Amino acid sequence: EKGGYDYFMLKEIAEQPKAVADTLLGRIDAGGSLTLDEVRISASELRELDKVVIVACGTAFHAGLIAKYAIEHWTRIPCEVELASEFRYRDPILDAQSLVIAISQSGETMDTLMALRHAREQGSKVLAICNTNGSTIPRESDAVLYTHAGPEVAVASTKAFLTQLVACYLVALYLGQVRGTKWGDEIGAVIRDLSRISGAVEQVLETMEPVRALARSLADKKTVLFLGRHVGYPVALEGALKLKELAYMHAEGFAAGELKHGPIALIEEDLPVVVVVPSPRGRSILHDKIVSNIQEIRARGARTIVIAEEGDEAVAPYADHLIRIPATPTLLQPLVATVPLQVFACELATARGNEVDQPRNLAKSVTVE
Ligand code: M6R
Repeated sequence: EKGGYDYFMLKEIAEQPKAVADTLLGRIDAGGSLTLDEVRISASELRELDKVVIVACGTAFHAGLIAKYAIEHWTRIPCEVELASEFRYRDPILDAQSLVIAISQSGETMDTLMALRHAREQGSKVLAICNTNGSTIPRESDAVLYTHAGPEVAVASTKAFLTQLVACYLVALYLGQVRGTKWGDEIGAVIRDLSRISGAVEQVLETMEPVRALARSLADKKTVLFLGRHVGYPVALEGALKLKELAYMHAEGFAAGELKHGPIALIEEDLPVVVVVPSPRGRSILHDKIVSNIQEIRARGARTIVIAEEGDEAVAPYADHLIRIPATPTLLQPLVATVPLQVFACELATARGNEVDQPRNLAKSVTVE
């Protein structure tokens, strides 16, 4: 059952290192190549693709947004991500050269199912990324890559999300492998890092006590904003969604670069703003830009809650609260950066007396359009 935890959500958050490791199991061979036999779409079809379209809802949609960065960077195939509920109603351009990826924990989400049916009617191949064996979405798809998160009971998705990310990275790397794009040192290194990443998730879980204390101290707030850029932007959206679902608070995620185009007007004295900071290594230009964003909002009174890599000293002077995460390659950072946001939302919900596993008005799987 709950294995000694008060809520399924806490249990499922704690299970994430294992869920991530299980989803990688058997999919990376000893030579560091990917063996995704489940992806029953022929290598020649994969080589002929001219675009990838991802459809999903809610948290799975956020996984899709992150996948876009990975797919385009590693494979150079254009990738679109769309809310499944919007997809078929706008007459999307699809054909046999489009690969549609449907991401769904339950495999029963009606919006996602209708989107994939529409894609198949247009002659596109559909690959499902799904956590529930034998559910409708994988049954109606051309191929399926299962996430091995195990049953997720809490309405708020946590371990399924991390495993969706892993599956998306695997698909992106596999496409790169099959098509021979950018296949070299970078990809080999990423695969090695991916195979060690569950240890980093474990490390984050061991340092969550200050995040819980911070969450409790914010229980009477009305609004929390979340900022990120690059793959940190979908992480910000996910942090905001978790807080809405669980704490019933006004929470919004923004791309940090958009601040000056409007959202900065929302900043006022003592407003909590969570900022997901990209690694200072790699795309360091983004790091510098986000450090200026943190300075800008702090100068306007925001209470800055900064999620930054260990060893990133540049952010420290502007962080009212600093949450450290292990260093990872840029594209993999969401696997560690999301975890504190899950813990934050869960603890805030508890502090506000909310029902964590069964938030009001929500169902675990949404089987109506
Ligand atoms: O089962 P699915 O992954 O298709 O579900 C999609 C969304 O309904 C789901 O992620 C929802 O947003 C969660 N409650 C998020 O925590």
